[in-house]
Amino acid sequence: MGFCCFGAFESSKEKSREQEEEIGTSNVKLFSYNSLRSATSLFHPSNKVGGGGFGVVYRGILRDGTRAAIKILSSDSKQGTKEFLTEINMISTVRHPNLVQLIGCCVEDKNRILLYEYLENNSLSSVLLRPKGKGVHLDWPKRVTICMGTASGLAFLHEEANPQIVHRDIKASNILLDENFHPKIGDFGLAKLFPDNVTHISTRVAGTVGYLAPEYAMLGQLTKKADVYSFGVLILEIVSGKSSSMAAFGEDLLVLVEWAWQLKEEERLLDLVDPELTEYPAAEMLRFIKVALFCTQAASNHRPSMKQVLDMLSKDVNLNEKLLTEAGVYRRYTSQHTGGKETRGNKQSNPSVSSNHLDSFQSVTTILPR
Ligand SMILES: Nc1ncnc2c1ncn2[C@@H]1O[C@H](COP(=O)(O)OP(=O)(O)O)[C@@H](O)[C@H]1O
Ligand SMILES: [Mg+2]
Repeated sequence: MGFCCFGAFESSKEKSREQEEEIGTSNVKLFSYNSLRSATSLFHPSNKVGGGGFGVVYRGILRDGTRAAIKILSSDSKQGTKEFLTEINMISTVRHPNLVQLIGCCVEDKNRILLYEYLENNSLSSVLLRPKGKGVHLDWPKRVTICMGTASGLAFLHEEANPQIVHRDIKASNILLDENFHPKIGDFGLAKLFPDNVTHISTRVAGTVGYLAPEYAMLGQLTKKADVYSFGVLILEIVSGKSSSMAAFGEDLLVLVEWAWQLKEEERLLDLVDPELTEYPAAEMLRFIKVALFCTQAASNHRPSMKQVLDMLSKDVNLNEKLLTEAGVYRRYTSQHTGGKETRGNKQSNPSVSSNHLDSFQSVTTILPR
């Protein structure tokens, strides 16, 4: 793919070449800052479609008429730059119908901007976790499509991408929805590549509380199973229409995973279902909830792989609940609450973990051989 729009670079061709080398963007289209300013009507607030941990996202129309999501990363920190490099390298090498497609980037001066295909229905969190009664109703078939598509994108990252990729930040605001509510995984800013010969890497924790696998949150052990855990939490949110970031379920104010586990113990799993969902096949619903419970088990080696998850979701199989072991939950603060009947040993808060979105960009990643 060729480069374009260098007109607005005030620097020499030499510098442009340096920048290309720096980010290794030989297969990524480059855009000038000016062209993005025009595409977004000077980054007009009415074109803002999102903002997360690392910048603001605008809707824009490019010169050729293509709609794009234009993600401006905060440029003044090293974190922003590292984030940018990770994301661009990551996403430019992978292609799958359930992964958001990169259109190009802008690396002018301090600006670090990513351009993605624009997804009409924004993110799953904006649709699912909106104030009740507002906006689109996500019926059960749509929710099934979202679960299956996300599982499929994640299975691709884990098993087929080369090198394999752990996303590390699977959550509702990073699942984008196209005009037909088909999901695409976005936001690769925290993703890590897994070389072939390693099973896990030790790293400082990054991610979002509420979706964090306990072994990853507390010990920094990152495996694909940390993504599987987050995916399990996501299924519970999709089924219940409730956010995992609140600790507000049942009499004991449990977190979502704990609540699901308690309902399983009390054999009333269907109480979890979003009251807005009036029609659904009970057997399929129960299967999805059980898959979520398999994914969120405390013992990471008991969790299925994403390929197995896909099979469990798509085939009309009877999942043996007896094989389920207790759910694991990471809470930021020590708590007496448990989802099951016994007290779990993984409840201590981690003093190094202090905000909802955990950053670890100065971290050194150690690769542990198999
Ligand atoms: N391709 C896109 N199409 C439509 N909306 C998007 C797109 N990418 C991001 N957004 C919106 O912007 C928000 C933040 O984007 P994201 O890539 O997750 O950035 P951050 O790193 O700040 O979390 C998303 O939750 C979504 O609402
Ligand atoms: Mg995000």
